[in-house]
Amino acid sequence: MLVVRPPTRNPLKLARSRLLASYIAVTAAIMALLAFGFYSYVRSTLVERIDDTLKHVVQLIEHSMVIVPEADGRLRVDPDRVFAGGDDDPTIELDLIYLEWFDPQGRPVRSTAVFRRPVPLTRGLIRATVEVSPGHKLRQLTVPVRREGQLLGYLRVSHQWFEVDKPAQQLFFDLLFGLSIAMLLISAGGWVLTEMALRPIREAYNQLKQFTADASHELRTPLAALQTNVQVTLADPEPSAESYRKSLEVSERLTRRMGRLVGDLLFLARNEGQENAEGQTDCNLTELLQQIVEEQMPLAAAAGLNVSIKTSGPVMVVANPDQMSQLFTNLLGNAIRYTPTGGQIALTTGREGKDAIVTVSDTGIGIAPEHLGRIFERFYRVDTARARQAGGTGLGLAIAKTIVENHQGQIWAESEPGKGTTLRVRLPARPGERRAQSEPAAGALPLEG
Ligand SMILES: Nc1ncnc2c1ncn2[C@@H]1O[C@H](COP(=O)(O)OP(=O)(O)OP(=O)(O)O)[C@@H](O)[C@H]1O
Ligand SMILES: [Mg+2]
Repeated sequence: MLVVRPPTRNPLKLARSRLLASYIAVTAAIMALLAFGFYSYVRSTLVERIDDTLKHVVQLIEHSMVIVPEADGRLRVDPDRVFAGGDDDPTIELDLIYLEWFDPQGRPVRSTAVFRRPVPLTRGLIRATVEVSPGHKLRQLTVPVRREGQLLGYLRVSHQWFEVDKPAQQLFFDLLFGLSIAMLLISAGGWVLTEMALRPIREAYNQLKQFTADASHELRTPLAALQTNVQVTLADPEPSAESYRKSLEVSERLTRRMGRLVGDLLFLARNEGQENAEGQTDCNLTELLQQIVEEQMPLAAAAGLNVSIKTSGPVMVVANPDQMSQLFTNLLGNAIRYTPTGGQIALTTGREGKDAIVTVSDTGIGIAPEHLGRIFERFYRVDTARARQAGGTGLGLAIAKTIVENHQGQIWAESEPGKGTTLRVRLPARPGERRAQSEPAAGALPLEG
């Protein structure tokens, strides 16, 4: 059977509606539980109050009963004076309370109430709620009355049930109304809260989408060039060995560029947002920088640049050496790439309090203030055409920033267009190595390009 799935909805919208639905459901359940608890508490208090009144009336009547001894010595309650004193007690409101007296066999003897449907005596049940006519309920308390071990009869006191029903009903509707209003407010609040909670995720999601689009675009350019190059060579009916070689050289250059781009993308995907860089060991930044300068020297020399390194001795940090090497290669690579022939590049290492500081300065083209804040973004290039021509994809500084942040450091750029740029890196120095020393000694190791 062919199953056709509808296209997936925007996952953020789906997440928001699910979050909102579960928030409302949980809050509604908690509120309903609280309201039910409150309602039950108030209702049981009302019933208790009526039961207390009934108990009080029973005690009052029991004490005021007129008991007479019979000829056979048995005690008997005078049927005309069962409720003597009781029904003129001001605490007994006879429109709310009914009194009934039953003989020991459970037959009715006296009553202050006339019920359309008399309620028979249930001896076992002390407290009960009964319906005497449709919609008319009573709360009853029945007690056997004994004197000197002899059962004289049963006294049943009834109280109007509406004293419980009416306020309980009112409370029920009030709570329902209050709950509806509260749920409306909670839903509106939830709408705003979920939006606030999802905003950073939405931003990250959009950034990721943009990143994927940029990465595909950057890969497509060399891929298209490669394809054209191969097609042109294949279309030549009589290709010379020379043209084949040229074509292969171009292909090699393009694949190398794609390989570098894929490598950079993989690095960012694996390392961005990590708390700590992996494989950290003791690392001497001065030594590392000297190695990098040596490696990059041919490139600087070819560009006609002078590279110097100023240091005051070893600067130790705990870091991943490969990543440190990549970080400073990127910075030095930029200085070489964006400095015209005859320019100067100066590197310094030193310490400032608890931190190791490395600077890479050049006398190159500089960066305008409006671009300075964005150069650490992925794929951001000030002059796209120029950077692409120079082989740049705009990932170098994003990688540098990721590396520095994964080592709990900071990186920032200072620049003046036409005059030059300085990139500063601050990393926590290795514990025990930290001593205040701000300015590095000058001219420790000049290297001429
Ligand atoms: N030292 C510098 N002088 C002038 N501009 C610079 C310097 N360093 C970086 N920039 C500017 O910042 C942009 C981003 O630099 P980044 O290193 O991220 O990318 P890239 O050098 O273009 O490419 P990639 O480093 O990926 O090969 C560069 O395109 C360039 O415009
Ligand atoms: Mg770069």
